[in-house]
Amino acid sequence: MKTNINLQAYNSFGFPVTAKYFVEINDARELERLFRMPEYKNEKRLILSGGNNILFTDSFFDGLVILMNNKGIKTVTDEGDTVIVRAQAGEDWPEFVKKMVEKGLYGVENLAHIPGKVGAAPVQNIGAYGMELKDSFLKCEAIHLETGRKRIFDNKECVFGYRSSIFKTMLKGQYLITSVDFRLSKQADLKLDYGNIRSYLNEHGMTNPTLLQLHDAICAIRDAKLPDPKVIGNAGSFFKNPVIKAEQFETLQQQYPEIPHYDEPNGKVKVPAGWLIERAGWKGWHDEHVGVYEKQALVLVHYGGGKAQDVVDLAKNIQKSIKEKFGIEIAPEVNYI
Ligand code: EPU
Repeated sequence: MKTNINLQAYNSFGFPVTAKYFVEINDARELERLFRMPEYKNEKRLILSGGNNILFTDSFFDGLVILMNNKGIKTVTDEGDTVIVRAQAGEDWPEFVKKMVEKGLYGVENLAHIPGKVGAAPVQNIGAYGMELKDSFLKCEAIHLETGRKRIFDNKECVFGYRSSIFKTMLKGQYLITSVDFRLSKQADLKLDYGNIRSYLNEHGMTNPTLLQLHDAICAIRDAKLPDPKVIGNAGSFFKNPVIKAEQFETLQQQYPEIPHYDEPNGKVKVPAGWLIERAGWKGWHDEHVGVYEKQALVLVHYGGGKAQDVVDLAKNIQKSIKEKFGIEIAPEVNYI
């Protein structure tokens, strides 16, 4: 257990935050001992994974930060075309995806290059380019933070939704995920229809891409649009794409015929928050420390030297302006701590 640790390197926005207590878990078995410690019992706790989806709103975290760093990837079963792979929570997500692609296993390739760790992936059901974690998620092992009891959650029990799961809703703050099992396939089933994947592949002479070529293309497409958190502080998409009623969408479409949209179940329509933010004139806006990324308006960035409050204020101003201009509420995807 360490005290007064600077978390600047552990949050992708790169804000300097001091944690009162800090412990790194390298093996899930260490948790038993941790659970008996007075700091664990008495302090407020924060489970930290890659720190890629959080915004500390204060410069001091008055509690215990538990950093999950347990490693290990193994094949659980390999039968016919299906391979079940178990990854420990502290494994780096993009490295895990690359390893699966190199083994010729299909199911997570479109989620390439998303910064973060395996244990956090189910919490917000990470998604990109027409694929979500839930599509290959078989089950996870989690530990109840009060009783220390282990529980297996299967896909259904996780109640996955768009950037959501039971770990973000009903059971928020109650469980710590220690490992995740994925159901992957040896059979090719590439998802190329989202956004500009196909046009990128065609431009690069890959009309019939291999798994590795698709993986590398996704990495390149992401790199072209999204800032590398090691270079510019950010937490990926800052807001969720809002889902609105069909009537509201139709009124909006009359005014803006070019508005991109995706049909959702129950006659609802999802519209890209990035488009709304750009249309409201925010894209590329910045002051000395923080701003709206010039290549993707959904990403708020920290250029350095700023405070979390600067991002909080910027986000509020953007939300207000989207509400005024389009009558739409946009909600943060990033977790405020
Ligand atoms: N758009 C604009 N201006 C912008 C940004 C986007 O007009 O500044 C338009 C684009 O032209 C496009 C549409 O909005 O027509 C959607 O843009 P994009 O494909 O870049 O995706 P997104 O909806 O902005 C979502 C995810 C990303 C994921 C991409 C690709 C959310 C909140 N975000 O972004 O996920 O990588 O799709 O699948 O759903 C993340 O969650 O952190 C994240 C990066």
